[in-house]
Amino acid sequence: MKFQTLLYREHEGLATVTINRPEKLNALNRTVMNELKECFEAVQRDSGVRAVILTGSGEKAFVAGADVGELAASTPATGMEISRLGQRVFGLIENLGKPVIAAVRGYALGGGCELAMACTLRVAAEGARFGQPEVKLGIIPGYGGSQRLPRLVGKGRALELILTGEMITAQEAYRIGLVNQVVAESELIPAADALARKILANAPSAAKYALDAVNHGMETTLAEGLNLEASLFSLSCATEDMKEGTRAFLEKRPAKFLGG
Ligand code: COA
Repeated sequence: MKFQTLLYREHEGLATVTINRPEKLNALNRTVMNELKECFEAVQRDSGVRAVILTGSGEKAFVAGADVGELAASTPATGMEISRLGQRVFGLIENLGKPVIAAVRGYALGGGCELAMACTLRVAAEGARFGQPEVKLGIIPGYGGSQRLPRLVGKGRALELILTGEMITAQEAYRIGLVNQVVAESELIPAADALARKILANAPSAAKYALDAVNHGMETTLAEGLNLEASLFSLSCATEDMKEGTRAFLEKRPAKFLGG
């Protein structure tokens, strides 16, 4: 796939999507947002792609936020449109049905932090910085940050980040549960790759059902979440992957999952 603001490559079922506007610290303008939508819709349709690494170009930033140049001209009507488009695209990433790993080097601010939070897992390089600085611009997070941040790190810590607009280090992000791993700068992509390969070794259909169970279960009551879990567990029992996984265990051999 060819894009103006994204680089795309795929190797053995693992796609890498790189936001490529390093001169603007990969800020999310309308073109990036539209291309992310197009790219992740294609990835969702492509059964050959089973996991994705999402990263930013250059040394300085994963994504330094929504494009402030574009935001400055916002009206209440376009503000609603901008927020809804971003929420839709990030919702697509969160509910892709395949794991998406954010590999974060440098700044993940505003929309960049929100984008990382919409991913399934987050690996950060040691020098990464996270923050929701929107209040410094007179706005609030509009791409899901006011909702996903408290769900990930708790209400108190989320409000501290959102109200102060201050940045935190990768280590602090790890301490509060915002990122899954912190690694040396040179190890960022290898670590994201290793994490993705661990997931790729398992049944793709199970990954999809597990993502559904957690993502949708967290939005509902415990009782409804448990009903959902039982339904998805039952569906997983109908898959070829389940037959292969259990048979391989009993035959003491590695499973060969086909994703059905
Ligand atoms: N939108 C548009 N352009 C951005 C941007 C954003 N969110 N973040 C950085 N840029 C641009 C800068 O304007 C600059 O462009 P220029 O060279 O044409 O002037 C270029 O990227 C490099 O950024 P610069 O500010 O010079 O780098 P720095 O190392 O001095 O500072 C940051 C880095 C991240 C601290 C600073 O760029 C920043 O605060 N960015 C905005 C963060 C933000 O508020 N995000 C939330 C938006 S809702």
